[in-house]
Amino acid sequence: MNNTIIKLEHVSKEYHRGTETVHAVNDVSLSINKGEFVAILGHSGSGKTTLLNIIGCLDHPTSGDVEVNGIKISSSPEKELTILRKKTIGFVFQQFFLIPTLTVLQNVQLPALFASKADEGKAKELLTMVGLEKRLSHLPGQLSGGEMQRVAIARSLINDPPVLLADEPTGNLDSRNADNIMNLLSELNDKGITIVIVTHNHDLVKNCSRHVFMEDGKLKHES
Ligand SMILES: Nc1ncnc2c1ncn2[C@@H]1O[C@H](COP(=O)(O)OP(=O)(O)OP(=O)(O)O)[C@@H](O)[C@H]1O
Ligand SMILES: [Mg+2]
Repeated sequence: MNNTIIKLEHVSKEYHRGTETVHAVNDVSLSINKGEFVAILGHSGSGKTTLLNIIGCLDHPTSGDVEVNGIKISSSPEKELTILRKKTIGFVFQQFFLIPTLTVLQNVQLPALFASKADEGKAKELLTMVGLEKRLSHLPGQLSGGEMQRVAIARSLINDPPVLLADEPTGNLDSRNADNIMNLLSELNDKGITIVIVTHNHDLVKNCSRHVFMEDGKLKHES
């Protein structure tokens, strides 16, 4: 049985700044199995975000092949990629990206609205799971940072994605809230969601099943 859910083969991403070429991601090959909890570590500028955005179909590689959940990204039409982004991949960012004028409940329902099924019951269920059942009518500005990130995580799960990608999800949080978010991600992983998290913080990801280190756009080693 093929258990691979994310597969990168010789993936590179170049940026051009004047005459200079930046190899943000440089010939990376990586396979991730269903159910793994992978931490991508590395210094600032090592290419972590670029790599995660490529996995999440938010960015195209300059060369190489990317396959997510059996769909080859380089050869997929835009429509298929939109479905992949909507149904297969949940994304969580350092800056939360909640809509300030919508309530907590509306923010979580938003991705389902685009899939034309505003599922209020599901949104409430997810908000209960992240411990925010008493905050449904609050606006994001009335929440703490840790709470905002929990809303963002609930939102990322509304379409039941099998893969969750998180770029520095605890970067704006204090250590107690960071631990809470990591515990929440661990629980989601226990439920079978494959998680890839990018971070600078080695202490936070001690419990991840796999650690991948990046340096100058390359995968350096694993542990
Ligand atoms: N849109 C862009 N145009 C030009 N260069 C870029 C662009 N995005 C990223 N880069 C460059 O690519 C390299 C990798 O950037 P990336 O954001 O992936 O690093 P990172 O590991 O996520 O860093 P950080 O830990 O600071 O978030 C950096 O040298 C960066 O300056
Ligand atoms: Mg980054």
